Amino acid sequence: MTSRPLFAFSGAAWYRPAMGAALYRAEPAFRDAVDRCCETPALRDLPDVAASFRGELGDRRPSKLDQLLAVGVLIVAQVDLWRAHGVTPGAVLGVSGGELNAAYAAGMLDRDETLRIARTLLPINIERDPHCLFGIEADSPEAKLMARRAPCEMVFVGTVAPRSSMMLAPAGERDEARLYLEKATRITKETATPAAYHSPRGPSHREQLAAALGEVAARVPEVPCYLASEGGRTVGQAKDARFWTAVSVRPFYLDEATAAAVSDGWRQVLAVGPTDRLEPWLRATFDARGARLDFVTSMREGMSDLRAWRSARRAMRWRSARRALTFRRRRPGPGHPDVRVLESYDEVRTALLSPERFSSTLPARLDRSMASLDSPHHDQQRAVMRGLLSTARGERLDRLCEEAARALLRPHLADSEIDVADALATPLSEQVLGRLLGLDGTQLQRFAEAARGPFGEGARRRVLAAIDALSPVPAPMRQAIDELGTHEGRDLLRMLWIAGTDTVRRGVVSTVRTLGGNGCRVRLLDAPGLVDAFVDEVLRLNPPEPILRRREAGCGVVDLSLESANRDPGHFQNPLATDLERRPGHLAFGAGPHRCPGATIARAELAAVVRVMLELMPEFELVHSPTAELLVRPKAVRQPSSSAVAE
Ligand code: HEM
Repeated sequence: MTSRPLFAFSGAAWYRPAMGAALYRAEPAFRDAVDRCCETPALRDLPDVAASFRGELGDRRPSKLDQLLAVGVLIVAQVDLWRAHGVTPGAVLGVSGGELNAAYAAGMLDRDETLRIARTLLPINIERDPHCLFGIEADSPEAKLMARRAPCEMVFVGTVAPRSSMMLAPAGERDEARLYLEKATRITKETATPAAYHSPRGPSHREQLAAALGEVAARVPEVPCYLASEGGRTVGQAKDARFWTAVSVRPFYLDEATAAAVSDGWRQVLAVGPTDRLEPWLRATFDARGARLDFVTSMREGMSDLRAWRSARRAMRWRSARRALTFRRRRPGPGHPDVRVLESYDEVRTALLSPERFSSTLPARLDRSMASLDSPHHDQQRAVMRGLLSTARGERLDRLCEEAARALLRPHLADSEIDVADALATPLSEQVLGRLLGLDGTQLQRFAEAARGPFGEGARRRVLAAIDALSPVPAPMRQAIDELGTHEGRDLLRMLWIAGTDTVRRGVVSTVRTLGGNGCRVRLLDAPGLVDAFVDEVLRLNPPEPILRRREAGCGVVDLSLESANRDPGHFQNPLATDLERRPGHLAFGAGPHRCPGATIARAELAAVVRVMLELMPEFELVHSPTAELLVRPKAVRQPSSSAVAE
């Protein structure tokens, strides 16, 4: 792969326990790079840095120095990982401490030098930073979110430098924080409010860094460098031994470096390390200059590091191979027949709309339900399905979904942690579909329990047995069986139950994960009208059915990757961003004659989950769990009004 993006590095880095541990396990190039970093003289006496990647910390909490150096190692190792996968920088951009890593990526420094400088510089800042002080972009919704997430009441202390960072401190530490501001910065503007504007005093980070770099940067960079540092930097860490995201100041000087890169023609930016906050800052400068930013980040808050890396890699592959790509052949292996994969939006959509060439009837498929049939047999079953689902529309459907979601979530509001799949996603999907099929109360409960279990051939048998055990058979189900005959009717109902519950369960989990993991929640609290757009973005980025299989006339089996199509940068601008203004048009529900007939129901269920979460549990955080699909911890709970909970 030959791809030469601009590698971007910022100081706006955050640490999480076991950060990079999944990448460490799964990617040999990353593991090797981390191990080498940890063996350098600068890190040899800090075993917790390596332990953090190896998942060996247990309950131990690394020191702040270990945390910051672990982030440094992570970034260096990600540069090496991208290199190992053929992606090298065409230029680098580094700000607010990211210059050091940028210099590494540009070949100015080797690994030892980079980590030695990092270690030499860090204690200065660590000593200087008071506890629990955040520097956050002023007026940003993210700032409010951070403040609300805090385990104690936070107060506004002041702002560092015009257009720079808002500082928040725990209410009890206002004076200490104020003193810090006065000592470390120079007040440039007093405002009418108690807050004051400050700008940095003393040798800036840039000056310190420039001095340190000057000593060792013997080599000329291999690629153009856009480096800029200025301003104070604060790193917040709660005193209650919980880990905190470190949020850097808004790097106003970033504008200059970015503007230079834009005018030199750079459009494609690959952010390395935990720096996804760079995107809005870069975008503002790109937009101001009428240039289109093509942004990919290697790591995302709220997403596992391995998943984020894989999706970034997929996006980079697109960029380098888009023009040439038509078919990719998946290597055959056990359980992997020799199938080709279609990935671009246009190709996948065309295949879905061409059933005469791309058939749903697969040679080895035991299933003879509508999903595996072509016209005309498919049309007959589809008509019966339409009848079955026709009652689910409009306000009635929205109310049904919201009431079900509310009733499921409410009993868990006092729990310290909630298992989203068990408490909400699975029972919601079963209750909504069950009600549409005429199942209710204990009959629904018994049916759902009998049908539940792992996916696959066993699921078919379980659901058929549950259908056969129904007595009496509810009217809508009876009618389907009467219209199609016992054999086909049972098959249709079985297929419907699986199609309508498992996908929704996965969709709800992705929705809650996204809601807890990015800044959209604050926006949705202010603008609930955007909930539907949010749901569509979640589905676009995480299609619960990521791959559909077809048989191409005369060619064999083809997999249509909805996931890749939905992230095709040739079709979606800035495809990896959750963009609430994006026009719908994703393929998560398929297209053509098999397009999901339950799409309206699914959207209503997911939107209901978002509304009810915002209403009852406006603040929650995602909890890492090796066993549960998704755990969340409520932080702020609202008691529902009596009218809102009426059922
Ligand atoms: C987020 C949730 C859902 C997603 C992402 C989803 C996705 C899809 C996709 C991609 C297909 C097309 C399969 C193909 O072309 O081979 C499909 C088909 C189907 N879906 Fe859904 N679905 C969801 C929820 C539901 C629900 C709630 C129901 C029922 C209430 C349902 C019922 C069906 C049925 C019956 C088919 C087969 C249609 C046919 O073959 O003509 N789905 N679904």
